[in-house]
Amino acid sequence: MDNPILFLLLFLLTPSHLATSDPLNPLTITLSVADYGATGDGLRYDTDAIQSAINSCPEGGPCRVTFPAPGKYLTATVFLKSGVHLNVEPGATILGGTRLEDYPEDSWRWYVVVAENATDVGIGGGGVVDGQAAEFVVREDPRKNIMVSWNQTGACLGDECRPRLVGFLGCSNVSVSNITLNHPAYWCLHLVRSNNISIHDIAIYGDFNIPNNDGIDIEDSNNTVITRCHIDTGDDAICPKSSTGPVYNLTVTNSWIRSKSSAIKLGSASWFDMKYFVFDNITIVDSHRGIGFQIRDGGNVSDIVFSNINISTRYYDPLWWGRAEPIYVTTCPRDSTSKEASISNVLFINITANSENGIFLSGSKGGLLRNLRFINMDITYRRFTSYVGGLLDYRPGCQELVKHRTAGMMMEHIEGLEVKNVDMRWSNNELEHWNNPLEFRPSTVNNISFHNFNSKSNY
Ligand SMILES: *[C@@H]1O[C@H](CO)[C@@H](O)[C@H](O)[C@H]1NC(C)=O
Ligand SMILES: *[C@@H]1O[C@H](CO)[C@@H](O)[C@H](O)[C@H]1NC(C)=O
Ligand SMILES: *[C@@H]1O[C@H](CO)[C@@H](O)[C@H](O)[C@H]1NC(C)=O
Ligand SMILES: *[C@@H]1O[C@H](CO)[C@@H](O)[C@H](O)[C@H]1NC(C)=O
Ligand SMILES: *[C@@H]1O[C@H](CO)[C@@H](O)[C@H](O)[C@H]1NC(C)=O
Ligand SMILES: *[C@@H]1O[C@H](CO)[C@@H](O)[C@H](O)[C@H]1NC(C)=O
Ligand SMILES: *[C@@H]1O[C@H](CO)[C@@H](O)[C@H](O)[C@H]1NC(C)=O
Ligand SMILES: *[C@@H]1O[C@H](CO)[C@@H](O)[C@H](O)[C@H]1NC(C)=O
Ligand SMILES: *[C@@H]1O[C@H](CO)[C@@H](O)[C@H](O)[C@H]1NC(C)=O
Ligand SMILES: *[C@@H]1O[C@H](CO)[C@@H](O)[C@H](O)[C@H]1NC(C)=O
Ligand SMILES: *[C@@H]1O[C@H](CO)[C@@H](O)[C@H](O)[C@H]1NC(C)=O
Ligand SMILES: *[C@@H]1O[C@H](CO)[C@@H](O)[C@H](O)[C@H]1NC(C)=O
Repeated sequence: MDNPILFLLLFLLTPSHLATSDPLNPLTITLSVADYGATGDGLRYDTDAIQSAINSCPEGGPCRVTFPAPGKYLTATVFLKSGVHLNVEPGATILGGTRLEDYPEDSWRWYVVVAENATDVGIGGGGVVDGQAAEFVVREDPRKNIMVSWNQTGACLGDECRPRLVGFLGCSNVSVSNITLNHPAYWCLHLVRSNNISIHDIAIYGDFNIPNNDGIDIEDSNNTVITRCHIDTGDDAICPKSSTGPVYNLTVTNSWIRSKSSAIKLGSASWFDMKYFVFDNITIVDSHRGIGFQIRDGGNVSDIVFSNINISTRYYDPLWWGRAEPIYVTTCPRDSTSKEASISNVLFINITANSENGIFLSGSKGGLLRNLRFINMDITYRRFTSYVGGLLDYRPGCQELVKHRTAGMMMEHIEGLEVKNVDMRWSNNELEHWNNPLEFRPSTVNNISFHNFNSKSNY
């Protein structure tokens, strides 16, 4: 609020019995959706009450809109504006509507809560936002559920035509903290063309059998910090993508992830550069892939560090991308019209993995993997599911699935690879004869070094 007179005016215009000031920041106005008529009964739509409370906030804020507990606030799309933070109290839930008419006309604006071109916006408070994903399931299938598609409007195609949960589009100074995001029908938390984003102390619970149930998608956005998050979901959990612009400066720390696809995935939308990412102190559990780079569209990736990461990966149904690789770094162009791009300067340090498959490093002719370093790694290979192995997974696009014996580390199209203090342990490998530590496509791999590399069987 730059103009104190304007501020005062707006303050006076706001019904004074509805507004209280915040002890932490006396300039912050607090409005309760209950005072604007929200019932919180989970049956009647509270959309108008919620939106009136938000619209009553002074221009530019700071303003806090509270959802009191207990209460389930059923709503159509809620539009945030600059300076507004939603404060969902512990015991309160924002419940997303499940009808097409609950969402705006353009499918790219289908969110339960969305902010567009806003600054200083956020959501938190200890409560829940729930997308009611179960209402979007057409048929349950333990391999992968069949989902409803709202493509009857022609707004979008195929089964990726469902509302997302929370979106910030073209925003800056975004804060999402201390909130549980439950059962998104499609992607969960989506940052698009935004800058200066802080995400901490959140939990995401997607349905493990719902496709495209991504956790956090950081698209065309800069300066994002994610910490102390717990993400348990069907599809990719933390997923930077570049569709209309680059992604710079992403830091993810102190988090726990389980995914039926990639726990951490760069791509596959990768038209622009991704640069300066740090992932530290992350536990990845029972995922179909641990750390994945699916670079397919010509954007170059560089200067990425993964440190202090524990990974356990396993096979799930091959309908889901991933073949239990703890680490997967690929640049094959998506199709014959795609540009090739490189991945450079990537450090993996202090990594422990327990996996049903090996590390897959696969550049392409015009898209080399350059200067990869693996330092201080302890990898145990152990089969325990009965899904068939022996497939290299180039999806999406490229050569799709290719029959090939698996290896502890498979390498092709690499320029510069350092492997130092790396132990591979093979356990229970009578299931498939796969005690095959290293596999090269020799003419495509250059300038590699191994120091203190060990591979041993633990029968
Ligand atoms: C946000 O900005 C974009 C790009 O400038 C514009 O196309 C869009 O209409 C704006 N949205 C709103 C709600 O102002
Ligand atoms: C989350 O919000 C609740 C309610 O305000 C508060 O009691 C709790 O300390 C907050 N937790 C964190 C991690 O900020
Ligand atoms: C909707 O999606 C289905 C399944 O992908 C497809 O068969 C149908 O043609 C689509 N309809 C429209 C209007 O896009
Ligand atoms: C973000 O917040 C900081 C400090 O609160 C402020 O200085 C900056 O102007 C804000 N950025 C934008 C784009 O509003
Ligand atoms: C991110 O930074 C890059 C490089 O400075 C810039 O080109 C891009 O527009 C920025 N994106 C946003 C959303 O600010
Ligand atoms: C980013 O947000 C933080 C916290 O809201 C603020 O202190 C900082 O000034 C912001 N930076 C920019 C560049 O807006
Ligand atoms: C990335 O972070 C660095 C260091 O904080 C900063 O100097 C740079 O401007 C940031 N890049 C973008 C595109 O914001
Ligand atoms: C690592 O993250 C966990 C939470 O997942 C946290 O409890 C622990 O303190 C963190 N360790 C360090 C060294 O920061
Ligand atoms: C990626 O790098 C190549 C080689 O330097 C360059 O030709 C290409 O334009 C870059 N891609 C993008 C999206 O900038
Ligand atoms: C990873 O696992 C190792 C050994 O099992 C353990 O010592 C370490 O604390 C774990 N680190 C994290 C970040 O969970
Ligand atoms: C890797 O682990 C070693 C030993 O635990 C520790 O000294 C070092 O700081 C760690 N490196 C990084 C980059 O975290
Ligand atoms: C070989 O690769 C290392 C990194 O692994 C790099 O530092 C070095 O410059 C490369 N040497 C040549 C001749 O390309």
